[in-house]
Amino acid sequence: MSFDLVFFGGTGDLTWRKLMPALFQAFRHGKLPPGGRILAVARDERSDDEYRAFIKERFVEVEPAKQPSSEEFARFADLLHYRRMDLSKPEHYAGLKDWVDQRGADTVVLYLATAPYLFPVICEQLGAAGLNGPRVRVVLEKPLGHDLASAQQINRVVRSVFTETQAFRIDHYLGKPSVQNLMALRFGNALFEPLWRRESIANIQVTLAEALGVGTRGDFYDQTGALRDMIQNHALQLLTMIAMEPPSTNDADAIRDEKLKVLKSLKPFTPESVARDVVRGQYRAGTIAGQPVPGYLQEAKVPAASQTETFVALRTEVQNWRWAGVPFYLRTGKRLAARQAQIVVNFRQVPHPIFPGSARANKLVINLQPEDGLELHLLAAKGSGQGEMLAPVSLDLDFDKAFTTERVGAYERLLMDAIAGRLNLFVRSDEQEQAWRWVEPILDTWAADPNGPRAYAAGTWGPPASSAMVARDGCTWDEEQ
Ligand code: BG6
Repeated sequence: MSFDLVFFGGTGDLTWRKLMPALFQAFRHGKLPPGGRILAVARDERSDDEYRAFIKERFVEVEPAKQPSSEEFARFADLLHYRRMDLSKPEHYAGLKDWVDQRGADTVVLYLATAPYLFPVICEQLGAAGLNGPRVRVVLEKPLGHDLASAQQINRVVRSVFTETQAFRIDHYLGKPSVQNLMALRFGNALFEPLWRRESIANIQVTLAEALGVGTRGDFYDQTGALRDMIQNHALQLLTMIAMEPPSTNDADAIRDEKLKVLKSLKPFTPESVARDVVRGQYRAGTIAGQPVPGYLQEAKVPAASQTETFVALRTEVQNWRWAGVPFYLRTGKRLAARQAQIVVNFRQVPHPIFPGSARANKLVINLQPEDGLELHLLAAKGSGQGEMLAPVSLDLDFDKAFTTERVGAYERLLMDAIAGRLNLFVRSDEQEQAWRWVEPILDTWAADPNGPRAYAAGTWGPPASSAMVARDGCTWDEEQ
């Protein structure tokens, strides 16, 4: 199957940091279908060879195991092409169409890795140039809009040019191996599903913690904040995967219908519940891995009086028969104590303890980062005498050991899915809009609240109010147990 993959924003951060390394991995693993061309599009003048040299230089910043040797890069570079385009000029789209048509590949994937305000204009121009035929797919990077109205506006334009099955809205968290394993765990095994409900589960915690700060993206981040950057998309997508009903098939729409139902069942926020159940924070100077780091307000391109949140913790519920009353806690932040992404499913205590001592409840931990894996925490008798206490033991499923093949990274997986036309791990427009609808009351309440975010020291787990919020339910965050 031949393909043309076109990156708008071809010299941007996302392209060289994530997309090109992911494509190179696919190439190295022999997963990239043969007969492919990769075309980077950007506004400055460069030759193909200059672009190849630019990417080669950037690969130095990629983690060492993923860097190509010179010989590997030379073979990969043969696939790379470059084209200058002014995204407002119709004739430049006509030129792109000629380039694509001359070869007539089976599939054309147009990846919009630009600033999102350009999406509508690019889509309109693609439509006007006739670059929207049945073999064309468009991949839209997040953030898709700034609020519900802007997301709807983008979707209206996308829909006027492409069908829904041509639109691949990316959320790279869905491509992470542990998320595939969450699906496999739930729907490929009979063991957990009967327990996966309010009768057995006390609460669920999703933590997406980063030790990094905003780096060079201060201007973008300050307009965005943690709620829009991580909760509206990544955290909510994980929540849908945890809480959805079993889909009737493994097809994209069967899965996405179930995810949408979860989003529609989320308890809506009011100004009162935002004040009680949502904590926003902003990092101050602190220490990460023994190194002093500046506070958010000292970061480059961040306004001195910014009230943008770099941390959010919230409590919600999924209002249906399966989950009624079970708290779902979502938490994310920059400059936290560790880079750690995980889902913790805390089961209920035994109803009638007969062993002395520890009454620790079972929990299932799904680790997404830094390593992926599953841990099931149980209690066992040590077998060393009478009257002994139960001791915690954990069954660890280390996927690295279980599967000797290297696991596929999120962007690699999603790029290959886009080329193959598999929509299962992409977000449908109604899901995305529903997620915006749900977060909007939080944004509105914050906009009207002069208090701003709470301070937390870099290198901690966020403001103390985050722990106080879960403590009201008699719970603790996982690291506090
Ligand atoms: C992106 C956010 O979507 O996800 C970034 O815009 C964040 O701010 C990144 O750092 C985190 O992704 P990952 O895969 O490194 O956890």
